[in-house]
This record gives sequence, structure tokens and C-alpha cells, in this order.
Amino acid sequence: MKERITFIKGNGYRIEGMINLPDSQGPFPTVIFSHGFGATFRNFTHHADAFARSGVAFVAFDFCGGGPDSLSDGSMQEMNILSEMDDLRVVIEKTLELEFVDKEAVFLMGESMGGMVSALVAPEFKYAIAGQILWYPAFVIPDDSRKRFEKGDNTALGIQLAPDFNETAMNIDVYNIISEYTGPVLMIHGDEDKLVPISYSGKAQRVYKNAALTVLHGAGHGFDGDDSMAAQTASIRFVQANCNPVGERRITDYNLLSQSLIALIEDVPHTIANLANAAALIYEAMVDVNWAGFYKLKGEKLILGPFQGKPACIEIPVGHGVCGTAVKIRKTIVVEDVHNFPGHIPCDSASRSEIVVPLFKNGKVYGVRDLDSPKVNRFTPEDKEGLERIASIIEKAISCED
Ligand code: SME
Repeated sequence: MKERITFIKGNGYRIEGMINLPDSQGPFPTVIFSHGFGATFRNFTHHADAFARSGVAFVAFDFCGGGPDSLSDGSMQEMNILSEMDDLRVVIEKTLELEFVDKEAVFLMGESMGGMVSALVAPEFKYAIAGQILWYPAFVIPDDSRKRFEKGDNTALGIQLAPDFNETAMNIDVYNIISEYTGPVLMIHGDEDKLVPISYSGKAQRVYKNAALTVLHGAGHGFDGDDSMAAQTASIRFVQANCNPVGERRITDYNLLSQSLIALIEDVPHTIANLANAAALIYEAMVDVNWAGFYKLKGEKLILGPFQGKPACIEIPVGHGVCGTAVKIRKTIVVEDVHNFPGHIPCDSASRSEIVVPLFKNGKVYGVRDLDSPKVNRFTPEDKEGLERIASIIEKAISCED
């Protein structure tokens, strides 16, 4: 099933797109597709159909001023890399709200300049994007823009560029930015590509933590015939390989975690070592967790203890933040969305939900065990129950003296 969709940018411009849905029951893994320079999403319709036939929803759109035939508002004289990045941000944010979308299986896909734009935006959504598929991504654009800028040339592929196109593009530190995305990336590039030499994808593969580069021998810029089919098949396989079946996600095996934790810390007479190992074990065992650690109560303040994740605030007064509130009420607190918790203390800006379990020793609060997730509503009642069980194991392996 196909339907048109309109996204609205902050400046009021309409971004026109098309959704191609599988015939089965959702939610579906979903690909958000970004077209290349001067093109339109309609160039990719046959690929969109193939994804949908394979059970993958395909969301495609025209960049504002993305090409002479763009259905979206704006002209090519207003389009540059930054404006396309803005367009894609709007499309991603809105797509993540659509009902048919499996929120844990959203992929970015782009060809040529759309590939570069996808790669540049992906780090901002790194917890929401399950993977990226980049067909001959145009990581050459900053270099080409610098050359054009130095020559005073403002045209590319016979098209007049926006006045600031070169200057904005040449200052983008592409490889530095894209490497912040740590999920899986599939790049497909022809070794006869004259417009974007394959070496640009080679360099990207080296900076990415988890990227594969499929080389299509003899293929140039833009695939056709067998190359197009091979790229399509590899891309659909990549999506299927990188989305876990619904129902097998986020579920932590608390029995296994309890056994591992007991084996690790029981009978070890060193509190800091036990808390450090417990933080590491929990962090490793749970998906979608970006901070796992402990705070110890000292007087009227919680003091940062062993943890995994980004550096965190050192002192939290009792009654403040989620942690201090959990101490005050002596109960576990599950925060579905930290933005809605008054007084939440942000440590990692990526955190969107949190669970804090108080730890007790001899009837008194010893401290808290805090877990953060970049996903809203990450922690279920089963997690609360499981993590409280884990807390009781930890309580046995800590001593108030150290
Ligand atoms: N968010 C916590 C602070 C600790 S960090 O998340 C590690 C709070 O509001 O208490």
C-alpha cells in the first residue's frame, strides 16, 4: 500500500513524501530514504516496492530544493547540505511517531548526496537508528566544494548551486561527524565511480566502528541492471539481519543475571570491587542502557560510586533528582520520560528514561543503583521486579564500613 505524506519544517516548508507499506500487519521495520543531488524520491520507486514486498516499510521524500522536480517547497537556490540535514531531521522525528513504525528497527538509507546527509544526521539519532545503508555516499562533496569555491565555480552537474552551497559544504568535517554513529553501516560502492571515488567509502569504513563496504565491480555512480538488483538485495538483507524479531528485545534474563552476579560478587569482601563488577555486569547484560552505576549515601548527600557510562554528577542531595527522591521515599522510582520528571538531574543528555532502586543495609539506606536508557519508557514492571531482585544480591555483598 502506498500513501502520500507531508512533513512540515520549522520554517513552514512542506516536505512531500511517499510511504510504501507491506501488505501484512505492522509494526514494520522502516527505512527512511534520502535521494541524491538533483534527484527525487520517485527515482527509487522500484526499490521502495521491493522493500515493501519484503516486509519493510519505506519512507521516501523530496528534499526541499533537492532537485528541479522536487515536490517539496523551496528552490535549489536555497538548498545546501545543512538544509538537507534539517529536512532529514524533521522526517526522522515525525517517522518515529508513526504508528506502523517498529521503533526498534528504523534504518536510514541514502544514495550519493542523500547518503552523506544520512550519515551526517545519524549520530544525532544514534539510539533510534538501527542501521544505515549508504549507496555510493558522496563524502567527496566537501573536497569538491572547496575546489569549486577556490575556482569561483558555482555549478555542479550542470546545475546552478545555492550561493552558499560550496562554503557551507567545504567546512563540514565529514569523517569526524559520521564516526560518532556506532551502529551497523552497509556501504555499497562501484569501483568505477568517477564522481565519488570508492576511496571515500574506504575511508568511511575505517572510521566507522561497524561498517561493511560492498564493492560492485565495474559499477559507476548510480547503479543499473544487475548492479541495482544486487544492491537492492544486499540492502534488504541488511535490514532483515539487523532487526531482532519483536518480542525478543529488551528482555533481560534476570535469572541468568542473578546467577552471574552471585558468582561474581558473593564472598568477595571488597565493596567497591563488588559494586564495580555489578555495574559492569548489568551494563553488559542489558540492551538500551547508557549508564549503570551506584551512588552511596554519606550524610545528607549521595556520592558517585562505581559506574559504567559517561562521567556523572558527583553529589546529589537527598530529595533532589530521581536518585535523591528514591532515597527520600525509600522506594524504587521508574521514570518513563526524564523530561517529565521535575528536578531530574541530567548527566548524559542521551538519557530518556531511568530506574533508581535504593539499596539498604541493616534497615538503613546505603545508597542507590541507577540505570539510564536513551529510550523513552525503557524499564518495564518486569525490569523493576528483576532489578529489585538484583539489588538484594548486591545488598548482601556490600559493607557499610568501606
Ligand atoms: N539522573 C539522575 C542523576 C544521576 S545520572 O543519571 C547518572 C537523577 O536525576 O538523580
